[in-house]
Amino acid sequence: PLDQVRIIQLPRVQDPRGNLTFVEGEQHVPFDIKRVYYLYDVPGGETRGGHAHRDLEQVLIAASGSFEVVLDDGRARRTFLLNRPYHGLYLPRLIWRELENFSSGSVCLVLASLRYDEADYYRDYDEFIRDIGCQP
Ligand code: TYD
Repeated sequence: PLDQVRIIQLPRVQDPRGNLTFVEGEQHVPFDIKRVYYLYDVPGGETRGGHAHRDLEQVLIAASGSFEVVLDDGRARRTFLLNRPYHGLYLPRLIWRELENFSSGSVCLVLASLRYDEADYYRDYDEFIRDIGCQP
């Protein structure tokens, strides 16, 4: 799955009155958008994430500020810095992710392919690794 992770360049409408970016499901992201959520007011030094998803696909956007996304598919690890509101980080299913180093006032906007379902989460890293067949 890590080789499917990529930065999507989102459309930018630049304007002296302020810039605009838009996202259409199945157009700019490779799925129909079923849910949107966002992380904000993250205290300095806190981390979010710490899980993987069985079926959910997501696109993460630093709508404001910046943060780092550490990814792990059981074979390799890769870190992305998100710091542009017109970059979307596409995450397929079965990727363990940690979000860290949030700048103050940053907002992590998430576009998701499915509605919220706790049963879709792996919250235990060892169980995730066992299930994807890559015993450490
Ligand atoms: P979680 O996905 O664990 O947060 P993060 O990955 O950003 O650290 O979600 C935190 C809590 O919020 C969890 O108890 C479930 C709830 N939640 C919803 O009810 N709906 C949602 O769409 C999301 C993303 C979370």
